[in-house]
Amino acid sequence: MSYIVFEGKSVIGNKLPHIVTRSMPVFYNPVMKLNRDISVLLLRAIPQKGMRIADPLAGSGIRSIRFLKELPKEKVRLLAINDYDARSFKAIRENLSMNKISLKSKKIKISKMDANLFLLSSFGFDYIDIDPFGTPNPFLDAAVRRLSREGILAATATDTAALAGTSPKACLRKYWAAPLRNELKHEIGIRILIRKAQLIGAQYEKALLPVFSYAKEHYMRIFFSCTKGKERVDEVLKQHGMMGAGGPLWRGKLWDSNLVKKMCSLNKDEEAGKLLGIILGESKVPASGFIETHQSMERGRQRSVPQMDAIIRELIKRGHPAARTHFSPTGIRTTMPKEKAIQLIRNIADKINS
Ligand SMILES: C[S@@+](CC[C@H](N)C(=O)[O-])C[C@H]1O[C@@H](n2cnc3c(N)ncnc32)[C@H](O)[C@@H]1O
Repeated sequence: MSYIVFEGKSVIGNKLPHIVTRSMPVFYNPVMKLNRDISVLLLRAIPQKGMRIADPLAGSGIRSIRFLKELPKEKVRLLAINDYDARSFKAIRENLSMNKISLKSKKIKISKMDANLFLLSSFGFDYIDIDPFGTPNPFLDAAVRRLSREGILAATATDTAALAGTSPKACLRKYWAAPLRNELKHEIGIRILIRKAQLIGAQYEKALLPVFSYAKEHYMRIFFSCTKGKERVDEVLKQHGMMGAGGPLWRGKLWDSNLVKKMCSLNKDEEAGKLLGIILGESKVPASGFIETHQSMERGRQRSVPQMDAIIRELIKRGHPAARTHFSPTGIRTTMPKEKAIQLIRNIADKINS
């Protein structure tokens, strides 16, 4: 049965089954609305205009339609929408028409090709959005090659079993790194994926720096800004290392906090607002990893965990930036070394419980 789906300022026709699977005739996942909201916000927040944008794995075309309807006109010079599936190709055309976007517009190019052929046969793009089923791996090389010198690359990964440590062998095969199955698993997974993309960038002397990253439900998402040059690439590679037994991975920043601030100021959506608010806080804390407050209490001692805000206040009072992390509702990112921070949390708990 067909339904009409509204998202942002766009509307698409779709057959929505009860469970979203990759065998849907035309893929549309309402849970990924946030993923698309963030993409729209990020594109609105960056200063670039006249951008050539590529949506190589477009599914229903909803992402591209939202770009056309929600970005300022001068932002987009070209939008190339592609999916190798004939049903998607047809749906993209129908959905564009449903949104009163002319198929004859010189701004739009719709194709039905393998994503890598689509990318490699192009002249290059200023924004490429890799939103596949599972790993972005098969598309990273072509995307990096066709990314302009100052371009933005967005990548989604839904293979969290590999990246977050359920299948460490798969992670080693796909990402050349060891994941960890502990409280840091999602952050470590994101950092592993970042390094993988950076290594591919390095081959083409393109330095890829993450400007916005997050993990949510079943997926991880990263936006990289690209700059060209050997020295810049060397600087990126210097920031690869381990986090305990996890890695090799990217040890540098996950966010550009000025960009996050701009995204916050443009946002009107509640779900995106919650995520962005937390990320804005943690983007200002120069630390990789976080402390899981619930694990800081000694076993067998009857003490309740202090409130998050109280712990954060005490950390800041001692000169250590600290904030909540979106990776865990009970996690705190801080520059205070872990053992010291755990002792501080225990001391606060003792005071409360005495
Ligand atoms: C996760 S869906 C895309 C969802 C879409 N980006 C969105 O925001 O709703 C992945 C899409 O990639 C397409 N696809 C998978 N492998 C492809 C390939 N090698 N070349 C082109 N399209 C491909 C599938 O047909 C599917 O529509």
